[in-house]
Amino acid sequence: LFTLAHLSDPHLAGWPLPGLRAILNKRAFGLLSWQLRRRRIHLTGVLNALIDDLREAGPDHTVITGDIVNISLPAEFERATRWLGAIGTSEALTVIPGNHDAYIDLPWDSTIGRWRKYMHDESSTGAATGQTFGGPNDFPFVRRRGHIAIVGTSSACSMPIGSAGGRLGEAQIDQLRQCLAELGRENLFRVVLIHHPPFEDHKHRRKELEDVVKLRAAIAISGAELVLHGHTHRSSLNRIAVPTGAVPVIGVASASARAWGDKDPARYHLYRIQPADNGWQVDVEVRSVTDTLDRFKRSGGFRLGVPLAA
Ligand SMILES: [Fe+2]
Repeated sequence: LFTLAHLSDPHLAGWPLPGLRAILNKRAFGLLSWQLRRRRIHLTGVLNALIDDLREAGPDHTVITGDIVNISLPAEFERATRWLGAIGTSEALTVIPGNHDAYIDLPWDSTIGRWRKYMHDESSTGAATGQTFGGPNDFPFVRRRGHIAIVGTSSACSMPIGSAGGRLGEAQIDQLRQCLAELGRENLFRVVLIHHPPFEDHKHRRKELEDVVKLRAAIAISGAELVLHGHTHRSSLNRIAVPTGAVPVIGVASASARAWGDKDPARYHLYRIQPADNGWQVDVEVRSVTDTLDRFKRSGGFRLGVPLAA
C-alpha cells in the first residue's frame, strides 16, 4: 500500500508589500486582486491546519501542483522555499509550478529553480538527468517510488496581463508521450501532475491551458493511471478515454481557502494505492477544513478501479 497526498494552490499569504518598482508590470494587477479579495480568502491559519492534519495522516509521499506564491516576488519565493522545507524532505515531497509561480518573466534559478530538489532526484528519468535538470525545458520529470512513477509537468509560463492560462509546448508533450509509454511498459502506476486541468474552460478561456487537445491525445495514446491538477480551486473528477478504459483526472481545491463564491473550501486528497486483480485499487479520501477553519476532517471518499496498462 502506498499513500499519496495531493494538495494545490496554497497561494501563501503574509508576504511583505513590494516597492513600486517591483510592480510596474503585470504584478500591479495581481497585487490589486490580492488586496481587494484574495487576502481574505487564502488564510495562513487554514493552511497551517492542513499541514498539521497532513502530518498526522503520514502519507508516503506528498505532491503539490503549483500556485505556491501569488505574484512571483523574490520575497515570496524565499518564504515558499522555507515553507516547503518545513513540510517534508525532498525525498517525500514533489512540487510542480503553476501560473502564479511564473507570474512575470523571471530567471529560473532565482524562482522555480529554487524548488528543483522537489522535482528531480537519483530515481529520475526523463528529459534531463541528475544535475542537468536546470530549466523550464527539462519537464516532464519522473520520480520513482516503488510501483509509483510521479510524472511532473510544467504548464507555468509568463502570460499577458489578464491571462491565467498555461502552455506545455510541443516538446514537453512529445517527451510526456514517450516517457508515459516507457513507464507503461514497466507496468508502473503513472501519476501525471499538471497545474492546469487538461480540459477546455468554456466559461473562462483566459484561464485555460492552451494545448489541452494535444495533451489529452498524448495521454490517450500512451496511457496513465491518474492525472492530478489544481488551478480551479474546486474539487473535480473527470476522465480521459484511453483504449483500456478511462484515466481518472482529479482536481483539488486550494489548500488555504475558505469557501468563496463558487470555489470550494480548503481540501486535500489522500490516495491509498495498491495492486489488485488486473490492475490497481485506489481509495480516495477527501479531507476538508471545518466551518471553524481550524482543523480538517474526512468529508468524503470513493474507490477507483484502475486497469493495468498492458
Ligand atoms: Fe493557477
